[in-house]
Amino acid sequence: MTWDRRHLMDVDGFSASDLTVVLDEAERLRARTEDGRGWLDTLRGQSVALLFLEPSTRTRMSFELAARRIGAETFLFDPGSSSLAKGESFVDTVRNLDAIGFGWLIVRHHRAGAAAVAARHFGGRVVNAGDGWHAHPTQALLDLLTIRRALGVGADLNGRKVAIVGDVLHSRVARSNAISLTAAGADVWLCAPAAWLPGVESLPVNPTSDLDAALRDADIVMGLRVQKERMAGGAVSVGGYVERYGITEERLARLAPAARFMHPGPINEGVEVTREVALGPRSLVLEQVRNGVPVRMAVLALLHGAGMLRSQTASLTAAPTIGR
Ligand code: CP
Repeated sequence: MTWDRRHLMDVDGFSASDLTVVLDEAERLRARTEDGRGWLDTLRGQSVALLFLEPSTRTRMSFELAARRIGAETFLFDPGSSSLAKGESFVDTVRNLDAIGFGWLIVRHHRAGAAAVAARHFGGRVVNAGDGWHAHPTQALLDLLTIRRALGVGADLNGRKVAIVGDVLHSRVARSNAISLTAAGADVWLCAPAAWLPGVESLPVNPTSDLDAALRDADIVMGLRVQKERMAGGAVSVGGYVERYGITEERLARLAPAARFMHPGPINEGVEVTREVALGPRSLVLEQVRNGVPVRMAVLALLHGAGMLRSQTASLTAAPTIGR
């Protein structure tokens, strides 16, 4: 398989073998960089701008560490002290970062499509670090790596059931995970109150509002952050949600002993999941965070490698014209 992407916007179009390439590269880079084994120079001399216009802890910090571990210099864009605060537009900001000479943009934005807009105005490579309700591709990739390691399975998840429970409607994580987990062969269920399920018809999943059906025989239960701020005047109350959909030890105890709990974070403890489950022996929450660094190293390294391949191909193609 040839990795031929210039940008990473989502996991749409990834085949099982595309996913395997990323995860295998992540494992390879983890082995080469963790536990004091040293840092690499894959991106030596390259400058990565972290353009985060929406709050983030996990994605921002792990992208920064990942980029540095493979040799890049990183620069954190501070929206509050930037000219955005004086009314400059997002597109003009991107154009200016391009003119300054950055080769990479890692974009987090509250609007769906922002990373794709950035890619149209930026000469280097752009990675979507979460755009509105649309996509969060590196979260999906690190979740897949986490599941693969936790279940001790190889390249595919054939026959494994993943139940994603929570605020599906507003979740870019649910959407990207539905696509990548299905491509990897998993049986994906999305479970939420009916008011939070619109829009999933186009996804290759089993939608349900019946938590028992979603959890039955699940290998993985993935909670999603409930966006409390979006419930004001909405059809679902927090109290009603916790009672019907909150992931508790009692609910998890009905699953096979090997079943595990995941959550992309940040967690509303006591809403989508209890503290006991989030910190308990079945929880993979911090393992997900840990896997973010090697997965993001892999994404950066593979995009860089694709660029190298493209320029080699271009010069080979161009060679016959030299001297004419
Ligand atoms: N999972 C995730 O995207 O977390 P952050 O918002 O902290 O980056």
